[in-house]
Amino acid sequence: MQSLLFKFQTIKDATGKLVAIEGLKDIPFEIKRVYYIYGVNEGARRGFHAHRELEQILICIHGSCKIMLDDGTNKTVVTLADPCHGLLVGKMIWREMFDFSRDAVLLVLASEPYNEADYIRNYDEFIRLVNAEVGVQND
Ligand code: TYD
Repeated sequence: MQSLLFKFQTIKDATGKLVAIEGLKDIPFEIKRVYYIYGVNEGARRGFHAHRELEQILICIHGSCKIMLDDGTNKTVVTLADPCHGLLVGKMIWREMFDFSRDAVLLVLASEPYNEADYIRNYDEFIRLVNAEVGVQND
């Protein structure tokens, strides 16, 4: 599955901690967009989509949440609860985010500007596209 947990260096001094992330240095793409999700209601689930081209790094910079990743064959759940951990979510991975703590802030670094046309929001379509890609690779 095209997902990977990054551990970013934390710069510590007597006063506290700092994490710096540079595109193409600490992560494999240039950062073209940053957004964050917070104030998620208890029990709420978000995501329910894949992206055709977009790559993202998910960092829970406060609190905790869980990310379910599905490549059409395998599913895995990753808990994010450390501000120096970043989860790379590649293209064509279905993701759902859940179990947000009340205080969770999920920061997302994205490889492209927002583009609704890049979203696949229908799970059946996602499976169809994944299988079509596998078919092309096997030809
Ligand atoms: P969405 O990506 O579906 O959120 P999630 O995956 O967390 O459930 O986006 C929710 C809404 O916000 C949707 O109407 C699109 C809008 N949006 C933007 O306008 N710009 C952005 O960069 C993002 C990520 C979302």
